[in-house]
Amino acid sequence: MKDIFKAIEDVAFAIDNAIKNEDLGYSDSENSSGEDQLKLDVQSDKIIEDRFASISCVKALVSEEKEGVMSMNEGGKYTLCYDPLDGSSLVDVNLSVGSIFGIYEGELEGANIIASAYIVYGPRIELVWVEKGKMPTLYRAINGKFKEIGEIKLNEKGKLNASGGTQQHWEVKHKAFIDGLFASGYRLRYSGGMVPDLHQILLKGGGLFSYPATTDKPDGKLRQLFEVIPFALVYEGAGGQAVDANGKRLLELVPSHPHDTSPCFFGSNSEINALKDAYGINNVK
Ligand code: AHG
Ligand code: MN
Ligand code: MN
Repeated sequence: MKDIFKAIEDVAFAIDNAIKNEDLGYSDSENSSGEDQLKLDVQSDKIIEDRFASISCVKALVSEEKEGVMSMNEGGKYTLCYDPLDGSSLVDVNLSVGSIFGIYEGELEGANIIASAYIVYGPRIELVWVEKGKMPTLYRAINGKFKEIGEIKLNEKGKLNASGGTQQHWEVKHKAFIDGLFASGYRLRYSGGMVPDLHQILLKGGGLFSYPATTDKPDGKLRQLFEVIPFALVYEGAGGQAVDANGKRLLELVPSHPHDTSPCFFGSNSEINALKDAYGINNVK
């Protein structure tokens, strides 16, 4: 696992360098979700693929920017599922973006994630690492090296509210719930990059991030293996909750395809409990 952590540290600096210096234009291809790929999406994917090729415990890669499962080292036991550049459409307006990693042992499903990590490329580079059953740890890059800053713990209740998807397509119950949070004093924080948005809620003590089912995207937008499940491990490790629209733990998701999506809600306990009430799913575990 140390090898994987070291590789994630290395790719953080390489991708940050690409973001700062490379062409911001589109490539001439689409990814599996039908989204136009930026040159930076493709480059970030290649940086990760190349760095992980030499890590013998990694048997396969699943990337947002690759069609299926890519075999790596035969004797390896882990599959690395990753979003090489999350929020990449925000680079041209110079907002923070990220990379997300889930490390799975066995079948690719929520129950088998054993560690996850994300990198935030902002004014500084930060990295959060969590192993199953433990609290997440924050690292910050200082003079070209990651320094451990400390463990991340959510408060029982926060103040921030971030909901994705187009409001025009929100379900009535979601709109009523979000309006209710604002009416009770919550502040809107939504950049359009799940990494900085979820990171902000974690470091500011709590709140709610939602990417709900919408009438145009009934299964939500965010991908289970390399966006939703890795962050679920972080939020549960920090003492919060991460559930789908039925109140089921996101760590129990079983995707049938590497690019399957799921509605998702991440937050501190008070907000997720309020969500379950508002959605009428209070009894679902
Ligand atoms: P990606 O850039 O990897 O495709 O992901 C972008 C995601 C996520 O970061 C963000 O929360 C969400 O898309 C924003 O979507 P909306 O604009 O629909 O809210
Ligand atoms: Mn993404
Ligand atoms: Mn991406």
